[in-house]
Amino acid sequence: MAAYRTLRAITADDAYANLALAEHTAGLSARDAAFATELVAGACRSLGLYDAIIASAAGRPLRSLQPAVIDLLRLGTHQLLELRVPSHAAVAATVELARQVLSQRVTGVVNAILRKVAALGAEGWATRLRTERADAEALLVRHPQWIIDAYADLLPAGELPAALVANNEPPVPHLVIRPGLAEVAELGGRPLRWSPFGVEASGNPADLSAVVQGRAGVQDEGSQLIAWALARVGAPPGPWLDLCAGPGGKAALLAGLARDKGERLLASELQPHRAALVARALDVYPEPKPVVIAADGTRPAWPSNRFVRVLLDAPCTGLGALRRRPEARWRRKPSDLDALVPLQHQLLEAAINATAPGGVIAYATCSPHRRETSAIVEAAEGVEIMDAHAVLPEIPDAARGRYLQLWPHRHGTDAMFLALLRKPVAT
Ligand SMILES: C[S@@+](CC[C@H](N)C(=O)[O-])C[C@H]1O[C@@H](n2cnc3c(N)ncnc32)[C@H](O)[C@@H]1O
Repeated sequence: MAAYRTLRAITADDAYANLALAEHTAGLSARDAAFATELVAGACRSLGLYDAIIASAAGRPLRSLQPAVIDLLRLGTHQLLELRVPSHAAVAATVELARQVLSQRVTGVVNAILRKVAALGAEGWATRLRTERADAEALLVRHPQWIIDAYADLLPAGELPAALVANNEPPVPHLVIRPGLAEVAELGGRPLRWSPFGVEASGNPADLSAVVQGRAGVQDEGSQLIAWALARVGAPPGPWLDLCAGPGGKAALLAGLARDKGERLLASELQPHRAALVARALDVYPEPKPVVIAADGTRPAWPSNRFVRVLLDAPCTGLGALRRRPEARWRRKPSDLDALVPLQHQLLEAAINATAPGGVIAYATCSPHRRETSAIVEAAEGVEIMDAHAVLPEIPDAARGRYLQLWPHRHGTDAMFLALLRKPVAT
């Protein structure tokens, strides 16, 4: 029931999987919560594949089934094809769930389709889909073809399978301190490979007092490294800006790093409710506190030529964080790029405008896609592209031309992209 309600929230209401899961698994035993999590994560990750199997087993297009029935079938299919749940139990439990949440009327169709799914098994379905569908190979590695193409555009051919497999494995959560307010040793767990600010979480982060008190948080090492690179690069003294700060992960680290240098961070975010999350994350710092505002980064609420270190963590497709949001790969469409790319150009222009001569802009995305990374930066005027990898030379296999590109299968982080751009001192 918890898995079904979570999946419904994701597919019908566009909920974030992690938030919906937390809501619907509250009060369950750790074992039941883990099972619900696996059911939802598996159904989300393999959604395209399971939908193809369900349609084939039903002998009719998916759209002829009720959306709620499809979600039930996705959960049943995951148990039948990937988990060690005995087939009779997976079918019986899903049919009973259908009766409870929908009606007796739909139990027949759920039962019939799942029995067909069970009869062929995972191998049998792979063979059947290869005869039925041109996109079978992509579905079998749990990615839509356009995302595979975007990865293939950037990686050596031999590495592509490992990169796709890494997207299907849930990440180990990483923790990060707020510099000056907590020590890494307080967090327990193994220190991260390159970020000096974090560890691999060894238990439930919510059990750590540093996390409860906001002196530490959960943040992928890749994101920590973006903030660290901007703090490490040479730049004149002066104020720092985070132009797209919500929900505040990088801003919380940057604010502490700015304090270390005697500087102050202005964190700006378009969405007021996300700006409120930033404010909450930064409130832990003592006076003089970092400043948080809700503002459209393309209509600057600050003077030109003002900031010496500017983070533009741009809204993007998130194709580099698919481990964390397994459903996103099926929701995102290539046409999303057509809306995001012009915004990314505009935001970068605004970031350049906000930067003081001699200052540095970190342009980051949690997507490696060429159109929203190097293509944006290379179209920018009035800045010099720096060697971003030279700022974090200790990270192996992370240079992508003059940019830094992390990968889950190489670095155990999200596939973060970073370009560092310097605004020349006026001539
Ligand atoms: C990739 S997220 C930033 C993540 C954040 N840096 C962190 O580490 O927690 C991009 C953010 O940009 C915000 N955004 C989108 N359009 C914007 C705009 N025109 N001006 C400012 N922020 C914008 C989105 O609401 C989103 O919160």
